[in-house]
Amino acid sequence: MKGTYILMFIFMLSNYLIVHSQEEAKEPLAKLWNIKNDEILKYLSIEKNLSIVDNILKSLLDDDNFGGTYINVIQNMIFINTLNFTKAEEIKNSTEIRQYINLLNFTRAHNSTVKLSSRFQDIDKLAKSYIPKYCMGYINSEINNIIIASCNETRNETSNSAFINAINDRMYYPIFIYYNCFNLSNNEIFNRKSGDIENRILAGDGIYTGKKTCSVGFWARSHSYINYIATAGHCYDLDFSRFFLYPRNSTVFIGKMTSYLLEPIDFGLIYIDNPNIQPVPSVRNTDSERYKELPIEDIISVSSNGAHLCISGFFSNVRCGYVAALNGFISDGERHNNNLFVVNLRCAPGDSGGPIFSYKSLTHVSLNGILMGGLFDFHDNFNGIVGVITISSILNEFNFLEVVTVP
Ligand SMILES: *[C@@H]1O[C@H](CO)[C@@H](O)[C@H](O)[C@H]1NC(C)=O
Ligand SMILES: *[C@@H]1O[C@H](CO)[C@@H](O)[C@H](O)[C@H]1NC(C)=O
Ligand SMILES: *[C@@H]1O[C@H](CO)[C@@H](O)[C@H](O)[C@H]1NC(C)=O
Ligand SMILES: *[C@@H]1O[C@H](CO)[C@@H](O)[C@H](O)[C@H]1NC(C)=O
Ligand SMILES: *[C@@H]1O[C@H](CO)[C@@H](O)[C@H](O)[C@H]1NC(C)=O
Ligand SMILES: *[C@@H]1O[C@H](CO)[C@@H](O)[C@H](O)[C@H]1NC(C)=O
Ligand SMILES: *[C@@H]1O[C@H](CO)[C@@H](O)[C@H](O)[C@H]1NC(C)=O
Ligand SMILES: *[C@@H]1O[C@H](CO)[C@@H](O)[C@H](O)[C@H]1NC(C)=O
Ligand SMILES: *[C@@H]1O[C@H](CO)[C@@H](O)[C@H](O)[C@H]1NC(C)=O
Repeated sequence: MKGTYILMFIFMLSNYLIVHSQEEAKEPLAKLWNIKNDEILKYLSIEKNLSIVDNILKSLLDDDNFGGTYINVIQNMIFINTLNFTKAEEIKNSTEIRQYINLLNFTRAHNSTVKLSSRFQDIDKLAKSYIPKYCMGYINSEINNIIIASCNETRNETSNSAFINAINDRMYYPIFIYYNCFNLSNNEIFNRKSGDIENRILAGDGIYTGKKTCSVGFWARSHSYINYIATAGHCYDLDFSRFFLYPRNSTVFIGKMTSYLLEPIDFGLIYIDNPNIQPVPSVRNTDSERYKELPIEDIISVSSNGAHLCISGFFSNVRCGYVAALNGFISDGERHNNNLFVVNLRCAPGDSGGPIFSYKSLTHVSLNGILMGGLFDFHDNFNGIVGVITISSILNEFNFLEVVTVP
């Protein structure tokens, strides 16, 4: 039996090489890292090693002499923002880190973690009290400063001006970034996921209420074995609480969103009320030639700035970007959400609720969270940032839930 399996595999592989070796489309990670598909495993291994060393390093770095770290997979290097190079020499000489010295690059920086963290906490509080419209904040380790990103069109709103003035009064001098969020030229051609209507639901599929489009986050199950589709809470609509699988005229009814929150986390659960619906613990990867479904193996979160994270959204399909911060906030003008991962990733509105995951291999992934929202220029199809509701914050708040993974 085992022999047969191996034989088939080799046959498929060689067949594959003959047919596709020329023109294979790049997998999302190959696009991100600008490498070939057959180099992905090597760079995943580099990233894993860097993250392990980064974690050892973080346990040794104090918050006064250093100002954060980030990894760069292509350069195979960890950058350490350093204020005190005497201290850096001590760390290089420590038994825990000595063997990894060629992976480390201590670079001169001006802002210590103590300073950045306390100023960021204060800015987070200000954001919570002013609730500026369409605004995100986080500490960017690569730039060694705080970033406040918002929309050009809302920068003069009362709440936004008051927020910015309060930051300026404190002389924190973070970096302000503005996106043109509302240039609705509407000529953006989305490559929507399409295909036959089927009853299997994967993470990243489209769901529709009659008013709002969102993406499936993951298959969740309560301790009493009730099955749900997890997505963002803001996908809920009082008048349109019934969710269907895309396309819009689809008659595949899933169920109603039976519980949802907007604060402290933006999260909702659709009760699967149709016995024909089969949730699948995998991420939809439509554009890939070989790996169209990526089984979710576990819920281990990334822990390093500069590590990759990917989204599968109904509008964007699978795209990957780099972790900018493991702690940031979003203020949408009505609510404040913090403790979010921040990822440099360009998404579209209907991607909300979609899974944010990291690759373990070419075929298997770890679920890190779901997409809350983000900022991007409408006419820039590349740059943007998103906020991620982490799995740990979800399971903290909904402690009767578990994420269904592949066995
Ligand atoms: C990762 O680390 C292991 C153990 O230190 C080493 O054997 C391996 O070659 C490293 N991989 C890469 C890609 O650097
Ligand atoms: C830099 O680090 C060294 C070694 O830990 C320490 O003795 C020194 O006081 C530090 N310098 C400053 C300015 O903190
Ligand atoms: C490095 O550590 C050793 C002991 O582990 C110590 O003898 C030596 O002085 C240290 N060197 C520096 C530059 O700190
Ligand atoms: C450290 O990084 C800086 C900036 O990228 C680079 O100029 C320098 O060569 C790097 N040092 C090492 C030892 O790689
Ligand atoms: C910001 O928005 C205004 C009005 O919407 C527009 O005129 C201006 O060009 C935008 N600024 C930038 C830098 O794009
Ligand atoms: C915001 O106000 C500034 C200064 O008053 C002005 O230059 C800018 O065009 C305004 N931006 C928008 C988008 O209205
Ligand atoms: C970080 O350092 C720069 C350069 O010294 C400074 O202008 C900025 O105010 C600092 N950022 C924060 C948030 O303190
Ligand atoms: C949905 O609508 C499209 C055209 O608008 C049509 O081609 C398709 O057959 C419809 N599907 C169903 C299930 O009604
Ligand atoms: C809106 O986007 C189009 C291109 O998509 C660009 O030509 C135009 O200048 C933009 N308008 C504003 C106000 O940014």
